[in-house]
Amino acid sequence: MFLQMKSITKDFGAVKALDHVSLEVDRSEIHGLLGENGAGKSTLMNILAGTFPPTSGEIYLNGILQENMTTRKSNELGIRFIHQELNLVNDLKVYENLFLGEELRNKYGFLDKKEMINRSAEVFKRMNIDIDPQETVENLDTSRKQLVEIAKALLFESKLIIMDEPTTALTNKEIDNLFVIMRGLKAHGVSIIYISHKMPELFEICDRYTVLRDGKLIARGNFSDIDEKIATELLVGRSIQDENKENDNILGEVILQVQNLSCIPAFSDVSFELRKGEVLAITGLHGDGRGELAEALFGARPISGGRILFRNKPLQLNSINQVMKAGIGMVPRNRKERSIIKDMSILDNLSIAGFVNNRGPFVKKNEELKRFHRNKEAISIRVGSPYDSITSLSGGNQQKVIIARWLEIDSDIYILDNPTQGIDVGAKFEIYKIVHELAKKGKSIIVFSAEFPEIYKVADRCLVMYKGRITAELTRDELTEVEVMYYATGSNMEGVR
Ligand SMILES: Nc1ncnc2c1ncn2[C@@H]1O[C@H](COP(=O)(O)OP(=O)(O)OP(=O)(O)O)[C@@H](O)[C@H]1O
Ligand SMILES: [Mg+2]
Repeated sequence: MFLQMKSITKDFGAVKALDHVSLEVDRSEIHGLLGENGAGKSTLMNILAGTFPPTSGEIYLNGILQENMTTRKSNELGIRFIHQELNLVNDLKVYENLFLGEELRNKYGFLDKKEMINRSAEVFKRMNIDIDPQETVENLDTSRKQLVEIAKALLFESKLIIMDEPTTALTNKEIDNLFVIMRGLKAHGVSIIYISHKMPELFEICDRYTVLRDGKLIARGNFSDIDEKIATELLVGRSIQDENKENDNILGEVILQVQNLSCIPAFSDVSFELRKGEVLAITGLHGDGRGELAEALFGARPISGGRILFRNKPLQLNSINQVMKAGIGMVPRNRKERSIIKDMSILDNLSIAGFVNNRGPFVKKNEELKRFHRNKEAISIRVGSPYDSITSLSGGNQQKVIIARWLEIDSDIYILDNPTQGIDVGAKFEIYKIVHELAKKGKSIIVFSAEFPEIYKVADRCLVMYKGRITAELTRDELTEVEVMYYATGSNMEGVR
């Protein structure tokens, strides 16, 4: 066996993140590590990569005990870690980020810029993507930043690559490219530990699995012996009623009218209506302009034409504050970059949007705490004290805090942009339930999503975008994945540019 982690335990103060967990990975194996948010996946990988030591337990590589693991030592042993959270320095160039801390030098001891740029370009070529090594990281969108993180692990010869949710921001095509590379690495004897909440990905690329729950080892085996339903039950510890949406929302009057909204070059001439009690999904592929549209609706991106009527009156779109005060809330995409306030506690992160609605100058501590406990229950946020720093939460639990933050404000319209990224299957269902309940109460919801199963679970109606335009409107009865893909790829738009 190439890697053996034996009886690993990790305590963070009173929190037992790992409790005698074992993990075994063979050479040339792609191993799926599964578990709910907060189960201990990232913690186990951090221990393997030497980010911090275990409280107890042992790591063996090729049967040899590895003591006092540090990040440097793990790198030297050929272990590479693609972190769940982005770790790039925004003001540095792409190639500088790639070689950060491991700069190449020429024989005179000077930085070998040319070689580093060449090597970077080679990796991107291998990955089948066109990122300029000399671009400043700041100018890349999130999906490209995630690809740079991945490239970092491919630069050097390695024996084991840890991928902690590498695809949360990637498009399907980029995921396909990544899988091609992973299969290539595997053929060359490299082992990969793959963490994801997306079941189809796990079943497609992984050989064996290990399931953690509450910091404990629950099961391990071959993917070929289980199906998605069994995997889900293993990781949540109960069977999940995968109910489909009932077609029972009673729609009220039109509350929002978007008229010929444009934001050149991202999208143009977007028009649609939204009714009270309606859940509207908006979907598309990379480059569809959907993310920009979400921002524009929330007043976070200047528009170049058109208007929005909210309750039949023009909506002032020039400040987020005004939009929120009018009664529109938003869960923005990419928690990693935009949503969490790293220096603040969980409680403050949860309450922050509420400040806007607060009448008096003081935030009411009691109410904050009540809100905290209500949400903790409702979407099972795995957290110790509300006063802990938000960054002590697992990735998915941070996302739950962000969602709770916005759902707590009493808005009339909720804009959810890629709301369940990094969230485990069990909690996803809870969030869909909350969306249904909001709709039943007469709230209107716009969900921007690229995941068909998600759209199918929540939407009354779905708009499909292609290159910045709405190319189709599908009613619930017309909603199938094939239909969505047909319009999302612009198949009905031949000849249109
Ligand atoms: N630095 C820390 N301080 C305190 N608690 C921590 C710290 N890091 C992790 N934890 C706790 O350890 C537990 C396991 O977290 P971990 O990040 O390993 O979960 P995960 O399985 O990766 O979840 P996710 O799918 O959400 O990323 C969580 O309860 C988390 O709050
Ligand atoms: Mg994690």
